[in-house]
Amino acid sequence: MQTLPSIRIDASTQTSGLALGWFHEEKEKGKGSGSGPIFVGKKSKDSDNLAHALKTSSHFFGKKNETSLLRYFSYDGYPSVLLVGLGTVKKWSSEIARQAGAAVYLAQKKERLQELTVDTDSFFAKVKEKDEYLQAFCEGYLIAGYKYSDILKDEKKDGADFHPTGIRLTEGKSAQKAIDRAVTLAGGINFARHLGDRPSNLLTPTEFARLVSEASKKKGFKCTVLGKKEIEKEKMGLFLGVAQGATEEPKFLVLEYGKKTDKPIVLVGKGVTFDTGGISLKPSDRMDDMKYDMMGAAAVAGVFYCLNDLKVSRSVVGLIPLTENMPDGNAQKPGDVKKSLSGKTVEITNTDAEGRLVLADALDYAQKEYQPEAMLDFATLTGAVVVALGSVTTGIMGNHPGLIQRIEASSEATGERVWELPLYDEYEDDMKSNFADYRNSGTREAGSSKGGVFLRFFVKPEIPWVHFDVAGAAYHRKDVNYHPHKYGAGVMVRLVSDLLENWKPLKN
Ligand code: BES
Ligand code: MN
Ligand code: ZN
Repeated sequence: MQTLPSIRIDASTQTSGLALGWFHEEKEKGKGSGSGPIFVGKKSKDSDNLAHALKTSSHFFGKKNETSLLRYFSYDGYPSVLLVGLGTVKKWSSEIARQAGAAVYLAQKKERLQELTVDTDSFFAKVKEKDEYLQAFCEGYLIAGYKYSDILKDEKKDGADFHPTGIRLTEGKSAQKAIDRAVTLAGGINFARHLGDRPSNLLTPTEFARLVSEASKKKGFKCTVLGKKEIEKEKMGLFLGVAQGATEEPKFLVLEYGKKTDKPIVLVGKGVTFDTGGISLKPSDRMDDMKYDMMGAAAVAGVFYCLNDLKVSRSVVGLIPLTENMPDGNAQKPGDVKKSLSGKTVEITNTDAEGRLVLADALDYAQKEYQPEAMLDFATLTGAVVVALGSVTTGIMGNHPGLIQRIEASSEATGERVWELPLYDEYEDDMKSNFADYRNSGTREAGSSKGGVFLRFFVKPEIPWVHFDVAGAAYHRKDVNYHPHKYGAGVMVRLVSDLLENWKPLKN
């Protein structure tokens, strides 16, 4: 994996330029020309001159994510100034700070500035929750430059491989904690992205297990890998049914963090390392994207990457069923009936609805082996969630309003959007079978909710549970500048880390 740029606290070293934040002036309708972009940092002769120049030109307006480099423009002893737009004061938020951090990185890379100093006063002087904003800014800065690193092509031409060294912040020592937290989260996010971007021939279930196992040794959690024999012994009939068409061996990962004494929060991640659809074969258009069908599993792995460094005090268990969904002579066929770990039976009406099958057995396993205080599952489960919500948000659904509220609070705090979809009992009818307890696909209507109610069949009602359908949000994001378009996004690492750090017992 690529190393992160550095963020240091240091106002005294000379760098190649100074980044200054500017707010956009909100003009009242019909009222003249206004006073130009707004500077809230330390006033000086230099800042007054610059503010005056910007007011009388149409060069830079301070709009969100707008940047402009004034090269060879001397300011406070620095040879260049990077103007960074922060949007209006009214809309300034930690999420916009995150995007500002990314904007600084992207401008720095484009302009090939090895190192920059960031005048943090001009960004954060007006903010009460300064640590939160600063952390978000650093997150954006650190993750915006992600690139898949083990690729097999020559990128040394034309300086395309220029990577900035980092930034120095004009901050006091107390900011170090916020920086450290951002570095931790960026590590987890990039780990998840890297797992997603790896082509499926290089990220088989075996290889996924090896990479997470390797990470577990450095990152303070335990990783146990169950192979096919052990999965058979556990009688995970739904998971094995999906795996039976693949030549690659399935794996089931059990990740454990923290004391064994308290009831764990269990995170389950769909780890389909490639989804062809099986016998219900997918169309070939953009089928290559189905290497990302393990982004739920990657989110769980990414969270575990952070737990120890964030000093999370809860015990957490991660369960990751890993397999390919392939159509060979041994593959399961539409109409086949399979028995889950819990004994419930499922008619496989569509072999392409494989995610819910591997998750159902993992949820059963969680309830058999642990006494979960809560269960969260993450999956690229349905195309329907992409149609309903697009890529800007994750669909969530569950059985516990209190837990949903917590998740919404963490969403607000971390800028990772979620949107609740209903799990009405009425949806269940369509998921019942004439030949088994349930069937794994219904009609096209409300496809994401039907995936959700199918999973709910396997959850004891007294266990708080929420399902995250990340099919839209998990890769190829175009909505925010800190997620590179062509790669995996590493969603839900920030949100779930926040949720676990601030965990309090749930009321019923
Ligand atoms: N992995 C897909 C869902 C998916 C689709 C993820 C598009 C990302 C982008 C999942 O296994 C699937 O094929 N779901 C089916 C379910 C249906 C057959 C009930 C779908 O959404 O079509
Ligand atoms: Mn599928
Ligand atoms: Zn799938």
